[in-house]
Amino acid sequence: NTPLVIAIDGPAASGKGTLARRLADYYHLAHLDTGLTYRAVAHLLLARGWPLDDTAHAVEAARLVDLGNLDRSTLAAHAVGEAASKVAVIPEVRRILVEKQRAFANTPGGAVLDGRDIGTVVCPNADVKLYVTASAEVRAKRRHDEIEANGGQADLGEILADIRRRDERDTGRADSPLKPAVDAHLLDTSEMDIEAAFLAARTIVDDVMATRGKI
Ligand code: C5P
Repeated sequence: NTPLVIAIDGPAASGKGTLARRLADYYHLAHLDTGLTYRAVAHLLLARGWPLDDTAHAVEAARLVDLGNLDRSTLAAHAVGEAASKVAVIPEVRRILVEKQRAFANTPGGAVLDGRDIGTVVCPNADVKLYVTASAEVRAKRRHDEIEANGGQADLGEILADIRRRDERDTGRADSPLKPAVDAHLLDTSEMDIEAAFLAARTIVDDVMATRGKI
């Protein structure tokens, strides 16, 4: 039996990251948030004062990304996410990161990867593909509440505008745009909390595994 690979894609703040972590825990799989790899490139460019739109510099930064050393806290900053979606349009950067992500997907015990192009480009042969969405309004509200819960201040209108801008950049780019793979299971979490989403995802995974005789 080949190890289980789960691909999860979706827009910013759709809940795909939390879902990916929960599924990885539950099925005892390694987990990679591929957004962190794009964030790591952006962070390095920002830290060195290198331009975000220069291919040679971005390629050098992408080569330096070490999957074993991605620090979520330094990469979480809003500005890093914005910059990440800019470097993510550079095909040469994507090629380098995708290669590292594919190596991770081959983890002997199986893996969950989440991002924008996992089901379409990184792991087209994944056992299970989930496309997680929610309306832009719901995603903005979630992000807003999360920031406030952590003691921060946030403007809902600004967050919504931001999310819409990021969606446009991610779905509109020529190389590997965000879109559901043809064989992805759609999971709209607009009306679901994380427990409900987790349960729905488990049902999908268990169903697919049962059909394939993997469980
Ligand atoms: O998911 P996260 O917000 O961390 O991703 C940051 C940016 O990295 C996204 O807006 C997207 O442009 C890019 N990205 C990508 N492909 C992935 C993961 C992230 O292009 N697989």
